[in-house]
Amino acid sequence: MHHGLRRDPAPSGERPAGAASAQMAEMLSGFAVSQALYVVAKLDLAAKLLAGPRTPAELAKESDVLEDPLRRVLHTLSGVGVVTHREGDRFAVTDLGATLAGGTPGSLRGTALLWMETHYEAFGELLGTLRTGSTGFALRHGQEFVPYLREHPEHLPGLTSAMAELNGGPRQALLAGYRLPEGEVVADIGGADGSVLAALLADDPRRRGIVMDLPEVVPAATARMSEAGLAGRVSTVGGDFFTGVPSADVYLLSAVLHDWSDEDCVRLLGRIAEAARPGARLVVIESLLPLDDEPHPSKLSDLIMLTMAGGRERTGSEYTTLLGTAGFVVDRTVSAPAGGYSAIEATFEAG
Ligand SMILES: C[S@@+](CC[C@H](N)C(=O)[O-])C[C@H]1O[C@@H](n2cnc3c(N)ncnc32)[C@H](O)[C@@H]1O
Repeated sequence: MHHGLRRDPAPSGERPAGAASAQMAEMLSGFAVSQALYVVAKLDLAAKLLAGPRTPAELAKESDVLEDPLRRVLHTLSGVGVVTHREGDRFAVTDLGATLAGGTPGSLRGTALLWMETHYEAFGELLGTLRTGSTGFALRHGQEFVPYLREHPEHLPGLTSAMAELNGGPRQALLAGYRLPEGEVVADIGGADGSVLAALLADDPRRRGIVMDLPEVVPAATARMSEAGLAGRVSTVGGDFFTGVPSADVYLLSAVLHDWSDEDCVRLLGRIAEAARPGARLVVIESLLPLDDEPHPSKLSDLIMLTMAGGRERTGSEYTTLLGTAGFVVDRTVSAPAGGYSAIEATFEAG
């Protein structure tokens, strides 16, 4: 018998004949859905449709694309709940489709652009990763993702918006109720545009912050802090976190450790340990890998880390061991409900 979310393999005879093949065919066609959604995101069609239903002819003209293929993309996406048909040969956008509109709360447009412009091709090399241990990204592009991004800064806005978009979506439940451990100065290491720090410091006016990221990313952080009205108490620093990090009372690593192998994480944690005084606090925000069969976003994210970065998602106890290697003792883990993100808090105990 099926119960709730568990996805037990159905005993034969329980599903109608062909249902398993149909479900598998649907999963296999994910590549077509991803590319159709990318078209909507790239042309910002969802934003255009938020203003009111439009015909494919109108949208095609405005977007400088051909009407017939655009109509077929929209018709296909009507079958997965992204747009709906309206009278007069028009399409409207649904709540689901509206998440692809740029500049709206909960938008995933930056994620769509980043994933399809930098991740999609690399995933064509997943089997190569299993055979060689190299990232799919390096197999496809001949260099790792971070050096590639530094040489192709046109993708940096996509990266920073994709990361910031997590705050409006999957990370929102954690950030809304979470308060950082005591400490006046909070350094967000690998903080991208500082959106996580901004969310955590907004209601905490006594604290000061530092956002550290690669020099190419810092202008986005400086701009974001001004927008958030935090320029007076948050500074931005460019540098390589494997070389050194600024001194602070609380260190924040949000979605950073999952980008790296255990060896690289220990190197980075070592740089923090060098800058930290005993008693300094570390907060690691990650989506923890569950051990069971439950559907969980960190399972797909683990493959993204494998293919794009050579990193990995980890279980709570793997993080405890990893942090312990560098002298950080885990105090507690705060988890958002329903498979969301967690904040692992640790204290630096000089060894
Ligand atoms: C996955 S993003 C996480 C961004 C942000 N902390 C968040 O949670 O939204 C990882 C960040 O690490 C930065 N990064 C990668 N290598 C770095 C290095 N060697 N030194 C400093 N920052 C680095 C990237 O530029 C990127 O902004």
